[in-house]
Amino acid sequence: MVMKRRDFIRGTAALGAVSTIAAPQLWFKNSGLARAQNGEIKVGVLFSLTGTTGIIEESLNKATILAIEEINAAGGINGMQIVPVVEDPASDPATFAEKARKLVMSDGCVSVFGSYTSASRKAVLPVFEKRENLYWYPTLYEGRECSKNVIYTGAVPNQQQDEFIPWLVQNFGKKFFLIGSNYIYPQEENNYCKKLLEGLGAEVVNEEYVPLGHSEFSSVISKIKSTEPNVIFSTVVGDSVVALHRQYLAAGLDPAKMPMASLTTSENEVAAMGGEAAAGHFTSAPYFMVHKSPENEKFVSAYQARWGADKVTHFVSEPSYFQVYLFKQAVEKLAASDITPPTIREAVKGAEMIAPQGKIRIEKDNLHTWLWPKIAVAKADGQFEVLVDSKEWLAPDPYAAYPDQKCVEAGLTNI
Ligand code: ACM
Repeated sequence: MVMKRRDFIRGTAALGAVSTIAAPQLWFKNSGLARAQNGEIKVGVLFSLTGTTGIIEESLNKATILAIEEINAAGGINGMQIVPVVEDPASDPATFAEKARKLVMSDGCVSVFGSYTSASRKAVLPVFEKRENLYWYPTLYEGRECSKNVIYTGAVPNQQQDEFIPWLVQNFGKKFFLIGSNYIYPQEENNYCKKLLEGLGAEVVNEEYVPLGHSEFSSVISKIKSTEPNVIFSTVVGDSVVALHRQYLAAGLDPAKMPMASLTTSENEVAAMGGEAAAGHFTSAPYFMVHKSPENEKFVSAYQARWGADKVTHFVSEPSYFQVYLFKQAVEKLAASDITPPTIREAVKGAEMIAPQGKIRIEKDNLHTWLWPKIAVAKADGQFEVLVDSKEWLAPDPYAAYPDQKCVEAGLTNI
């Protein structure tokens, strides 16, 4: 068997018998690895509290902090407390990268929980890959990525669209208007949508992208009026979700005839826009606040007790919460002297737990999550009514839109 240099380094480092004299580069690599020390497990919390996606990321911060506080109050992990280091990257990918470097290199965090947009995840990825650290990403995203340094706990396109698109065609018709924010997530998500539509004999009457933070949708509304689609498929994010819905309502458009179907509109954006602007529009996601389970009742009541009775939970804050418990489950298996990002990653592969949405699992081959897709309609009271609830959890397929590509090609076999 030919052993690659990388495998050799990993093998010898695992033995813990590396001589700094015989192999200084191995000592350097090992010493750069973040690890838990002094009875503390330091983690980064990297969600924007300001800027255009602060509207949603602030709630991801809150769900993460809640889980950390609960775990610490119950005795920590094997008697060690989790110490969160919180940073605000202000919805700016370059600031995300700068803060990620600080958390990993200066603070010595053994994992970082963070990001809403794929633009910010892409910006921090080189930091985690170069430093062999671990990023826990709770957001729905476009797939086509499979880093061994990221645990992906949000939905990928097959988990939001496989059931949703045929359901929309069947219930509303075959003319789709695609509107998204202008970056990788909406573009890739729309690529998958177009493949599904093609297979159903449906058509795209317009595909449009607006800058992040865009708030003036009059020309989009005019095009919607002139093209008369059956469905407006929306992947706009952040503040823009609120502006789009309000301007749709003000233009007198009717969701019963021409609804918006979204992958990004949650209870959080609905609270910001007001129930009237949201009512009658559809979202596909693995979690809604109204979900009935003992775990969800506990999550919602703890969240509201901690952050305010008027606060909502949603399909990105739920993974933000449960992924901290997955982290705990993984770290619990390790000796105190052995808590490093790579050992945590090994321990989380194939992990299962009962999350608020139901039983979830981290797929060992791609580090994405098995989830429970649902289709729901927004109501004027700010909550959703679930119309289609999956009977089975669904495996993540990060390369659903690209069947000729696989995680092995993206490097995960190197784990
Ligand atoms: C996203 O950018 N993944 C919503």
